[in-house]
Amino acid sequence: MTVMTTSIETPEPKRTSDFQMPWNRVLSANDAAASAARALGPWHPQEFLAECVQTIPEAGGIMTFVFRRLDGAPLAFRAGQYLNIAFPINGEDGEFVDRSYSISSAPTSPWTFSISVKRDAQGLVSPWVHDNVRPGTVLDMLGPVGAFHLPDQERRPRYLLLAAGAGITPIMSMVRTIHALPSRADVVVLYHGAEPGGFAFHKELEYISAVDERIKVFYSLGDRSVPENWEWMLGRLTAEMIEQVAPDANGRKVYACGPEGYLNHAADLLRNVGVDDTSVHMEFFSGDRATLLEYQEEIAHAEDIAEEFAEEIAAAREAAPETHTTNLQFLETAAIAEPLEETEELQEFPPDDSAFKSVGEGTLTMSFVKSKLKVRINPDQRILHVAQSAGVRIGANCQEGMCGSCKVVKLSGEVDMNHQGGIRAREVAAGKFLPCCSTAQTDLVIDA
Ligand code: FES
Repeated sequence: MTVMTTSIETPEPKRTSDFQMPWNRVLSANDAAASAARALGPWHPQEFLAECVQTIPEAGGIMTFVFRRLDGAPLAFRAGQYLNIAFPINGEDGEFVDRSYSISSAPTSPWTFSISVKRDAQGLVSPWVHDNVRPGTVLDMLGPVGAFHLPDQERRPRYLLLAAGAGITPIMSMVRTIHALPSRADVVVLYHGAEPGGFAFHKELEYISAVDERIKVFYSLGDRSVPENWEWMLGRLTAEMIEQVAPDANGRKVYACGPEGYLNHAADLLRNVGVDDTSVHMEFFSGDRATLLEYQEEIAHAEDIAEEFAEEIAAAREAAPETHTTNLQFLETAAIAEPLEETEELQEFPPDDSAFKSVGEGTLTMSFVKSKLKVRINPDQRILHVAQSAGVRIGANCQEGMCGSCKVVKLSGEVDMNHQGGIRAREVAAGKFLPCCSTAQTDLVIDA
């Protein structure tokens, strides 16, 4: 049967501007809705068993494995995060081998979730996964893990998503998520591959970019020989290429994933085209020793949290319901905190900042550069709570140092941060911190 179509002018859809993850609305939900949302809220990494329900071959030697949790619960995660999975490659009684894989599906369809694995002929685990994981295979998983993910809320969602090779996996989760949610997003994807037939998910990306005017996808072939019918870009990532696909790159948040060489090169180029380091988020698919150790620490940390969380759940089940304090109650308390009282006095820091308003009481001063506000704080007070109460706009969700959504840049001063995996060592080295789980040690100047 041939379907006849006629080209007609259709008006553009009207959308809400805010990008907001579904669970984010838990803060304003009533009790019943809040309980449902909490089930999908990615509060903690957990250890769980999952059963493979489908395998989907993709281009570029990648296979997608779709799973569902054995306990029937949805998998709550953020787009971009990964799972650490124990593979019984030495038999059920032998040593399990752990590997981390990004989740390629979107958290907006949490009842099943997928990882997409590239077969590396020299590798130990990926060939085993391709040859042995089938519908019915049950694997032990830990997750979600990782601070590389979309924010829970964004007023102006403008992203540049850079992927090279298998680095498309977490980026695919982000694209699917943005496509699924209402917002006036503006997303540019630039996807590098080595061979014309090696771009995984290209059919879906073509479909999404054809039906969703918010998402534009560009491809570039590495430096291999090029077939005649190749109509996209050619060559490694360059500053010109970034300017061509996203002339306004310096107004966008950048998420990049791929091999270490590609990401280091991308970091330099982004700086050259004026993108501030603080707007750049990277996930290394392969990395040097320091990077690998950092990821190992992240997983070890997630394991500790999963263990604590499992104990908490067990204890809560035994305790009377009224003594069970939930995250939600904690969040609500924080959200309705009374504003701090304004004081008359103006501080002398920074010296030329007479436009700064000073509020609150305390022995230390936090100067918020963008908000033109100086907030007094005591060393035992959580920075986020005090700042938000004073009217500084900092997005936040978990309030426990896990989700990374409150991340801000500290321009000067010292904080004591007690996070739970929501920030990476390299981000801390770049001056970022999580105000939800930090207290001030000295006067601070914060870029917010
Ligand atoms: S609010 Fe989640 S890390 Fe701060």
